[in-house]
Amino acid sequence: MSVRRPIFAANWKMYKTPPQAREYVRAFASSAAGLCERADIVLCVPFIDLETIADALTASPVAFGAQDCYWQAEGAFTGEISAAMLKSLGCGYCIVGHSERRQHFGETDESVAKKVSALLAVGVTPIVCVGESLEEHNAGLTLQRVMQQVNDGLGHLEDDERAALVVAYEPIWAIGTGMADTPENANRTISLIRQSAGGLDDARVVYGGSMKVENAAFCCTQPAIDGGLIGSASLDPAVFLSLVKAGLGDA
Ligand code: PGA
Repeated sequence: MSVRRPIFAANWKMYKTPPQAREYVRAFASSAAGLCERADIVLCVPFIDLETIADALTASPVAFGAQDCYWQAEGAFTGEISAAMLKSLGCGYCIVGHSERRQHFGETDESVAKKVSALLAVGVTPIVCVGESLEEHNAGLTLQRVMQQVNDGLGHLEDDERAALVVAYEPIWAIGTGMADTPENANRTISLIRQSAGGLDDARVVYGGSMKVENAAFCCTQPAIDGGLIGSASLDPAVFLSLVKAGLGDA
């Protein structure tokens, strides 16, 4: 029986202004607090919302995080935000290597590896995203692709660092399409991810890609899956609350 604590992380992507973020927390935090006894609940928000979220979640067990960072501690890197800056705002988590950053902003396994180390060094938990494209999926290359991302992005870490990670398996063809992977497939892929990078048995590995209230139960029925990274179904606080409940096996 797994002792890993479930985790449900919202990925707001490029949605919500600070006033909208505050409104969300007002509708979300008190109901979510009870669920935090059984799972970590994290809101990963745009940089511009972090201070508002930090303030609104003061004294709440709901955690928050960013969606990217830069690996250097400080310096002449116009437009970038360091892991230490995120830590100073109280971020507990930071998404790294999301497929949208890999696709649109040139993120590579090499930059993922550096960002993961920078975050771990300051005590922010990386949520490291991996996943195959539709072409790779159709060509039967899922495991090859995902193993490569995990080994190249995380293979340099020590045992205790690996145990501190959250990894999100997000098939690219499932993100934002309404077409989630099957629970059995996701469980099989995640089981194999756990055997990569020198062993990820103690890390939490979640599924992402069109996770909805209707399908979230596979988080609690599939033994290798510890929760979810949720995009569109996290944008409405009531929907996200229902999804976390479903993912924890509540009716
Ligand atoms: P989705 O996004 O839930 O809207 O598919 C997931 C993600 O991109 O992390």
